[in-house]
Amino acid sequence: MKTDRQMKELWFKFFEKHGFKRIESASIVPENDPTVLFTTAGMHPLVPYLLGEPHPEGNKIFDVQRCIRTSDIDDVGDDSHLTFFEMLGNWYLGDCPKEEMIALSYEFLTSPEYLGIPLDKLAVTVFAGNDVAPRDDVAANAWIKCGVKKENVFFIKDNWWALGSGVGPCGPDSEMFLDTGKPKCCEECNPSCDCGKYLEVWNDVFMQYKVENAGEKAVKLARPNIDTGMGLERAVVVLNGSKSVYDTGCLKRVIDFIESKSDIKYLETDLAKKSYRIITDHLRSAVFVLGDYRGVVPSNVGQGYILRRFIRRAVNCARNIGFDTNYFEDIVDMYVDEYQDYYSDLKANRQKVKDELKTEVEKFSKALEDGHKEFEKVLNGIEKHKAFASAKGEVVEDIISGKACFRLYDTFGFPFELTKELAKEKGYEVDEEGFKKAFEEHQEKSRTASAGVFKGGLADSSYESAKLHTATHLIMAGLRKMFGSQVMQKGSNITPERLRIDFNLDHKMLPEEIEELEKFVNDAISKNIDVVCQELSLQEAKDSGAVGVFESKYGQVVKVYSIGEVSKEICGGPHAKNTGDLHHLKIVKEESSSSGVRRIKAILN
Ligand code: ALA
Repeated sequence: MKTDRQMKELWFKFFEKHGFKRIESASIVPENDPTVLFTTAGMHPLVPYLLGEPHPEGNKIFDVQRCIRTSDIDDVGDDSHLTFFEMLGNWYLGDCPKEEMIALSYEFLTSPEYLGIPLDKLAVTVFAGNDVAPRDDVAANAWIKCGVKKENVFFIKDNWWALGSGVGPCGPDSEMFLDTGKPKCCEECNPSCDCGKYLEVWNDVFMQYKVENAGEKAVKLARPNIDTGMGLERAVVVLNGSKSVYDTGCLKRVIDFIESKSDIKYLETDLAKKSYRIITDHLRSAVFVLGDYRGVVPSNVGQGYILRRFIRRAVNCARNIGFDTNYFEDIVDMYVDEYQDYYSDLKANRQKVKDELKTEVEKFSKALEDGHKEFEKVLNGIEKHKAFASAKGEVVEDIISGKACFRLYDTFGFPFELTKELAKEKGYEVDEEGFKKAFEEHQEKSRTASAGVFKGGLADSSYESAKLHTATHLIMAGLRKMFGSQVMQKGSNITPERLRIDFNLDHKMLPEEIEELEKFVNDAISKNIDVVCQELSLQEAKDSGAVGVFESKYGQVVKVYSIGEVSKEICGGPHAKNTGDLHHLKIVKEESSSSGVRRIKAILN
């Protein structure tokens, strides 16, 4: 039986031994990708490097990356789906023979010192070929050379990996499976069918291609890479042969803790089991979102909205099982204790996580009481309407109108998904379209949250974003010049259309201050200054006077972007090449973000 922790340590030991360098997990809130709310895979923060930028730590790196996939939220409660997970990853940036990575994968999987999977239980898939890339005989032969039986190497046409939107670096992959020993489900049974005979453990992606724009054909990358990823929780379940992700490690401890404090036992009813699991999963996600160095707080837009949903759903589930939400704080401690050695910001933010969580829980608990009453009223209304209609021989559907859903959301703070869930429990449908319409009419601000940004996608490393990113640095430089060096960036978000930046300042900016700031930035733009990137050690960067938001434990070498004498910041990039490319900056809004924090939105034109 292995735990998540032991797996992480084995991973670190193995790749260190083979000369890879450990990098720190990036933020769970993607820095330069406006198309998704959260980091969805280990390679996600590495997109610029997979597209050719040199990485400051060299070309052989590994890590454990915190990830959230919101697409799985409705499936949480079953044995395998989680919103938060960790991904173990390693990368060869630049040309590396596939054979070399496959030999490493083989060693990690089969060596008794590491995973010790018996050879006859190991099955692999490789790319079957199409009009973009040929059949991957190189990978197949490499596996066979290592010792994998020929009949356990399968050519599959879907073995191609890309980010959700299909844009960005991509390529054929080779997936590794544990053969459970179950009989084949049919003659053609292979690892790509989901009969349960084969369970995936790891994935080597040969990133030799890229797609520039959605829908376009993949073209060869000038410099190919290898990207590998192992979903930690899932791999542990497979290797332990356990039934669910909640059966080991910290998730199990949290389930046990909840059980020791609840009226209803974990396995007493299906609803109880699902509720325990949702609390366990969602609070972990909430801890990671609140505790991140780019942490966000609950709100009605973007990441804040998802966070709110995690917390509110957990509260509702706690009600289902008679679990006092005051114990959420103990669960925060359990998670911070478990993960702080890998994510140092969690340690620093332990109290903040507790405080923010408590505030949101209190807000919601109060609203929930009223909301539940209101929900019952809505159902009663429908029933009355039905009785009335049926007396006239008409039929009324069991559907809750979009307007009613929106009222529950807007007036009672009931997340729409909660209404949907409760409705389902009672056998009602909800008018999703109607809700969406009402939502968009009333919540201009929520547009970003409800649009495609939820769907998952890919790093938009387009030059538009890069220019806005450079503009953000100029704005920070201006603010610090005007108000002093205590002003720091507190958050940033870039879409292809505009930039948004949060910073600490004790007052609402005056119109003349906004004007002064715009002038400062536009002066720098008109001087056509080259943006220069240097790689320095963290100490050198600090000594050079660069502004940095956080300190990295592993990324000892950092990138410092300088804009002449105007700005110098530790930052991952990407940036415009020259300030002249920005043309002209216009600040379109200055508003409060949270207490002591102001927010600016600006566009380039
Ligand atoms: N990027 C690959 C994955 O997420 C390794 O599966």
